[in-house]
Amino acid sequence: MSDSATNRAPFSEDHPVLDRFRLDGRVALVTGGAQGLGRGYALSLAQAGASVMISDINEDGVQCTATEMVAAGLDVAAVRSDATDASEIDEMLAATLERFGGLHIAVNNAGINFNSAAEETPIEEWDTTFDLNLRGLFLCCQAEGRHMIAQGYGKIINVASMSSLLVPHPQKQAVYNTSKAGVAHLSCSLAAEWAPYGVRVNAISPGIVRTPLIESEALAHLKDEWLTQIPMGRLAEVSDIQAGVLYLASDASDYMTGHNLAIVGGQNLW
Ligand SMILES: NC(=O)c1ccc[n+]([C@@H]2O[C@H](COP(=O)([O-])OP(=O)(O)OC[C@H]3O[C@@H](n4cnc5c(N)ncnc54)[C@H](O)[C@@H]3O)[C@@H](O)[C@H]2O)c1
Repeated sequence: MSDSATNRAPFSEDHPVLDRFRLDGRVALVTGGAQGLGRGYALSLAQAGASVMISDINEDGVQCTATEMVAAGLDVAAVRSDATDASEIDEMLAATLERFGGLHIAVNNAGINFNSAAEETPIEEWDTTFDLNLRGLFLCCQAEGRHMIAQGYGKIINVASMSSLLVPHPQKQAVYNTSKAGVAHLSCSLAAEWAPYGVRVNAISPGIVRTPLIESEALAHLKDEWLTQIPMGRLAEVSDIQAGVLYLASDASDYMTGHNLAIVGGQNLW
C-alpha cells in the first residue's frame, strides 16, 4: 500500500515488512511434497503459519513427511494423489477444502526428468514427462484456479526449472527442458487471464538442487562438471529455494504475477 501523495511506502508499525511474509490463516497445497524440493516448500509455508496439505503419488512417503511435520508442531496433513489424473486432482482439492476449509496457495511442484539424446528419445518418454510436468500441472492449475477465482484471491506457484531459461549441459534432456519452458509460459498466460480475479500465478526456476532427483545414479557423476558452470561454486540446497516460494506465496509479492523467479547461483550468467 503506497502513499500516493508522496509515493513513499507508509512508515507504520501496522504494516512492518516481515509481517507481510506471514501466512497465518492461509491454506496451502503442495504437490509432489513427500521429498526433495516439495517437502522443503511445504515446510517453509507451514513454518510461516500456513496450514499445509502435502500431496504425492508416494502414499507412505507423503504420510511419513506429514507425520514428521506434525510432530514438529506444524499444521500439516497428507493426501495420496497422482498429479496426472484429473479425478485424483479433484479429490486432492476436495480433501484440502474438507480438512482445512479453504485454499489460498498452491505450489505445483510434482515433476519428473529422463535423460536421453533427442534422436534416441522414445516417444513414451515425451508422453510421460509432459503428462506430469505440463498436462498434469495445467489440470492442477485449472482445479485450483476455479476455486481461487470464485473466492477472488489466490497464489499459484508453478515449479519450472533453470532449464526453462537455458539448456543445461552436458546432460541431454530436451524433453524436460521443453516441458519446463511450457510451465513458465503457461504461468504467464494464466497470470494474465486471472489477474482480474485476484489470482497471481508465478513460476519458480531452481538451478541444480541437491535432491534425490539429482543424486540419482544417472546424474550424480556430472556434479564436478556442473560445479565449473556455477559462479557460486556449489549446487543449491533445498533451503536456498524455500524463501523464494514463501515470497511468491505471501502478501509481500502481491504486485508480482507472471514472473519466473530464477534461483540458480549465477548459472545463467556465463
Ligand atoms: N532437483 C533439482 O535440481 C531441480 C531443479 C529445477 C527444478 N526441479 C523441479 O522441482 C520439482 C521437484 O524436484 P525434486 O528434485 O524435489 O524431485 P524428487 O524426484 O526428489 O521429488 C519429486 C516428488 O514428486 C512425486 N511424484 C512423482 N510423480 C508424481 C505424480 N504423478 N503425482 C504426484 N507426485 C508425483 C515423487 O513421488 C516425489 O516425492 C520437479 O518439478 C523438478 O522438475 C528440480
